[in-house]
Amino acid sequence: MNTETHVSNRWSNKYAYILAATGAAVGLGNLWKFPYIMGENGGGAFVLVYLLCILFIGIPVMMAEVAIGKRGRSTPANAASMVATESGKSSHWSIIGSMGVLAGFLILSFYVVIAGWAVAYVFYAGTGEFSAAAADPATNAEAIGALFGNLVSSVPNLLIYTTIIVASVVYVLSKGVKDGLETAVTYLMPAMFVLLVGIMIYSAIVGDFAAAFAFMFNIDFSRLTIEGVLVALGHAFFTLSLASGIMMVYGAYLPKGVSIAKTSIMIAIADTLVALIAGLAIYPIVFAHGLEPSAGPGLLFQALPIAFGSMPMGDVVGTLFFVMVVFAAFTSAIALLESAAAYLVERQGLTRGKASLVAGVGIWLLSLLTIFSLSGEEWTLLPFMGDGKTIFDGLDYLTANILLPLGGLLISVFVGWFMKDELVKEEFNVSEGQFKLIMVLLRYVAPIAIIFVFINAIGLF
Ligand code: TRP
Repeated sequence: MNTETHVSNRWSNKYAYILAATGAAVGLGNLWKFPYIMGENGGGAFVLVYLLCILFIGIPVMMAEVAIGKRGRSTPANAASMVATESGKSSHWSIIGSMGVLAGFLILSFYVVIAGWAVAYVFYAGTGEFSAAAADPATNAEAIGALFGNLVSSVPNLLIYTTIIVASVVYVLSKGVKDGLETAVTYLMPAMFVLLVGIMIYSAIVGDFAAAFAFMFNIDFSRLTIEGVLVALGHAFFTLSLASGIMMVYGAYLPKGVSIAKTSIMIAIADTLVALIAGLAIYPIVFAHGLEPSAGPGLLFQALPIAFGSMPMGDVVGTLFFVMVVFAAFTSAIALLESAAAYLVERQGLTRGKASLVAGVGIWLLSLLTIFSLSGEEWTLLPFMGDGKTIFDGLDYLTANILLPLGGLLISVFVGWFMKDELVKEEFNVSEGQFKLIMVLLRYVAPIAIIFVFINAIGLF
C-alpha cells in the first residue's frame, strides 16, 4: 500500500460528514440547473425519470463511491487503484478516480461563472434593482430580463464576479479556514431551506401555483425525449456530486462504523427536496408572468427577481436569497476544487497551498471559455452541437451527459463485479438482504440503464 498518500484524518462524527457531503451536493445544481433543465425537458415525466435515477442509480453509486474512498483511504485515483489491487484486479481502475477529477475540474470552470451571477444578484437586490423593475408591472418581466441580459453579455462584469468567486475559493481552501466555513454552513443551510420554503409559499400565493404543480407532477411521456432521459440521468449524478472524485475523498475521511447506506439516503433526500422546492418556488412566477419554462440557464435569475420586486421587503429577502445561493454554490465549489487540489498533491507532490493556487489559476483560465461563450463571441460557437450552441453548452454536455454517467457506469461495474465481495460487504455493513438488493442495483440495474440510455441518446456503439 502506498502510505505516502494514505489519509489518516477523519470526520469528527457522522454529522460532520453528512453536513460536508450535503454542502457539496446542494448547490447550483439544485437551485439553478434543475429548474431550467426540467423546463427544457417538458416537466412531469422528466421529474419522474430524475427521481427514479436518484433512487435506483444515484444512491447505490454514491454508496459504491464512498466505499471505494473509505476502503482505499486515499485520494481518488490512488484509492481506486488500491482497492482494485486488494481485490486482485488491475490498478488501471485508477481511471475511475482520475476521470472523476477531470469531470469535476471541467464542471468547476463554468460553475464559478454561474456562482458569479449570484454574486452580481446580491448587489442588484441590495441596490433595489428588483423593486425598481417592479414599479411598472406591465414591463416588470422585461426589465428583469434586461438586467440579466446586460450581465451575461458584459465580459468585464462576468470577469469581476468570476474572479471574486475563484479567489475566495482558493483562499478558503489553501488557508484551511474551512472549519469556520463549516460552522457558518451549519446555520446557513437550514436557514436557506427555511427561506426557500418561505419564497415558495409567497410564489404560491402571488403566482400560478396550480400551473406550476401540474407542470412538475403531471406525467406526460409524450413531452419527454430520449435526450431528456439522458439529461435526467446525468443530472442525478451532477446534483449528488457523484463521479467527480469528491465522494471518494470524503469517504476516505469516514470514521469506522458510520453507515454508508443510511447517510447516502439522507444526503439524497435532502438534495432532492431542495431541488423540488426550488422548482415550486420558481414555476408559479414563470407561469404567472408568461415566461417560457424553456428559457434556459437564465430561468432562476429571470423569474425570482420578479417575485422579490413585488414582495414586501423584497429587496431584503432577495438579497438574503442570493447570499444563500452564493453560499450554496461556494460550498460546492470548494469541494470541487478540493478534489482537483488533492489530485495535484497526490500526483505532483505539491503542498496543499500550492495545489489550491495552481488548480485555481487553471480554473480561472478555463472559465474564460464560458465567459466568452455567454458574451456571444463567435469563436465559442460549436455548430456540430446545434444552432447557437457554445463551448459553455459543450462543457455542460460533456460533463453532465457523458463523463458523469460514464464514471457512474465504471463505478457501479467496478464495485458490482470487480471489487471483492467481502470487501464490499465489510464497507457497506448492511444486512444480507439489503446487501443483495444493493448489489443487484450495482451489477445490473445501474449499468444496463446507463448503457441503454447512452446507446439511444448519443448513438454510441
Ligand atoms: N452537486 C453540485 C450541485 O448540485 C455540483 C457538483 C457536481 C459538485 N460534482 C461535484 C459539487 C463535486 C462538489 C463536488 O450544485
